[in-house]
Amino acid sequence: MAAMATEVTGTVMKVSGPLVVAENMAGTKMYEVVRVGKDRLVGEIIRLEGDTASIQVYEDTSGLTVGDPLVKTGLPLSLELGPGILDGIYDGIQRPLERIQQICQSVFVPRGVDVPNLDRDKLWDYTPQNMKVGDLVSGGDIVGVVRENGLFKKHFIMVPPKLSGRVKKVMPAGKYTIETPVVEIEEAGNTMTVMLFQRWPVRQARPCVEKLQGKEALLTCERVIDALFPVTLGGTAAVPGAFGCGKTVISQALSKYSNSDVVVYVGCGERGNEMAEVLSDFPELTTMIDGKEEPIMQRTTLVANTSNMPVAAREASIYTGVTTAEYFRDQGYNVAMMADSTSRWAEALREISGRLAEMPADAGYPAYLGARLASFYERSGRVTCLGNPVREGSITIVGAVSPPGGDFTDPVTSATLSIVQCFWGLDKKLAQRKHFPSVNWNISFSKYIRILAPYFETYDPEYSMLQQQMKEILQKEDDLQEIVQLVGKDSLSEDQKCTLEVAKIIREDFLQQNGFTDYDFMCPLAKTIGMMKVIVGFHEAAQKAMAEFSGEHKVGWNSIYASTKGLIKKITDMKFELPRQSEEHFRKTFVALHEEVLAAFRTLAEEK
Ligand SMILES: Nc1ncnc2c1ncn2[C@@H]1O[C@H](COP(=O)(O)OP(=O)(O)O)[C@@H](O)[C@H]1O
Ligand SMILES: [Mg+2]
Repeated sequence: MAAMATEVTGTVMKVSGPLVVAENMAGTKMYEVVRVGKDRLVGEIIRLEGDTASIQVYEDTSGLTVGDPLVKTGLPLSLELGPGILDGIYDGIQRPLERIQQICQSVFVPRGVDVPNLDRDKLWDYTPQNMKVGDLVSGGDIVGVVRENGLFKKHFIMVPPKLSGRVKKVMPAGKYTIETPVVEIEEAGNTMTVMLFQRWPVRQARPCVEKLQGKEALLTCERVIDALFPVTLGGTAAVPGAFGCGKTVISQALSKYSNSDVVVYVGCGERGNEMAEVLSDFPELTTMIDGKEEPIMQRTTLVANTSNMPVAAREASIYTGVTTAEYFRDQGYNVAMMADSTSRWAEALREISGRLAEMPADAGYPAYLGARLASFYERSGRVTCLGNPVREGSITIVGAVSPPGGDFTDPVTSATLSIVQCFWGLDKKLAQRKHFPSVNWNISFSKYIRILAPYFETYDPEYSMLQQQMKEILQKEDDLQEIVQLVGKDSLSEDQKCTLEVAKIIREDFLQQNGFTDYDFMCPLAKTIGMMKVIVGFHEAAQKAMAEFSGEHKVGWNSIYASTKGLIKKITDMKFELPRQSEEHFRKTFVALHEEVLAAFRTLAEEK
């Protein structure tokens, strides 16, 4: 009883939804975690004034009353980072949803539940690496490796960022729980231990040696992105779009098929059935590793904070996601983080800010919305990791934005736009016409195009040229559409008619990619580039033919169209080429078709 009495540090003074104001809080710090009320709900101090603290509570606060006790922990909101994060699903403050369900036999998270974030009993296969007694080590040094699962074979165990000293003891290879001290380090008479997991406060970026410019592409296996608006590994991209435009489908496609080593998927404030879909879909998807099928879920971790979960935890879920991403980046991996949707996160920010009675800015959002968004996206990037051996890692952040009514002038969209380097704007009209992904090629952009040119050119020296030409054809179509609407199609010249026709092929048979078909659920880069070559090649050859034969031997678009009908059919059928085939196969197939296009135009010229 006496112990209980000394534990209590504060009392609840006011409860306003997820916000609790408490007094007698002197001695606490900003962002310290406190346990609120008899149920010991998890909360975090977000404002301190004198001995009064405002606390955002990550659990349902109904039933809390004035006078309830508060217990301070002295610790910031932290994550446990170690084996067991992958292939798992956590809530916004990293509580393990699966294990809670098993323990509590309830589909809802009981209030105040105390379950360790990472499994304490599970044994992991651990092997020490490049470490012996007497060595000097410091933060970030790799001391060993855990085989996490068949897909993610090397989970590196690192010295936590702030530790350093001389190695005193090294455990041999074996099966250990995450709390086992596998390395003991001594410095100035103090002994510290490295366990298989470490803790890190979510609101603080994990340190790295240096941030670097991205140079490789995140291959998304979505044609419209890989061909026209690519993003770097370490880059930032936003996907804004109204309800039903395909934000979730794009984010999930990226998690499934992109060339990242680790995927962190944050479901933030969206409907629960979408998370349920992820949970049922992902474990079924497999990839071939050393001739064995391994579920891609093994490289994925989910942070779920659906619309029916407490709003404050939504705010935390973004930080939980990005901190987890940083931990894997520090091991030297390329991590992709998806947040669906950052608008719901911003709304949580707005709600808390409103309850704190802060001065609202645009549309009721707090004035620091832009700063908060920026500090989140800033945690992306390609870096030189801390410690030895020298390695690089990256975090690519893709944030979905759901502006009300699809209006891109809303504060969250416009703030995001000024931060990210890549913008895939989804278009309601395209979605209504069932043009998916509904990425509007006129408003979307990527500022990584120049940086990525050398990377793509190692795949194919013509890539930049092809991309440029495709964009030009689409741009010309956009200009010509106006003329057609004003004075009709007949007023167009022959080469313009040709451009319109090729633009239609690009839109309907290249940019459109139905994610629910067996031929287009993903599209490897070799297929994308092959298709670009054939389409652009056709346009070029047709334009050349029309330019060469003017006057008496005039070749018009209609006659070209008539004599290449079979060929055009083959071009529009290219997408049906199944995606899971070798690069070599795609190269051969599309080079052959390209040759056929050139041959057809040679025949046409000879006939004249
Ligand atoms: N790439 C795609 N291929 C085929 N259908 C799609 C694609 N993207 C979206 N859709 C269709 O649009 C619907 C809504 O997509 P969703 O991603 O849930 O929208 P949002 O998250 O923007 O509200 C999907 O259920 C699907 O029918
Ligand atoms: Mg959605």
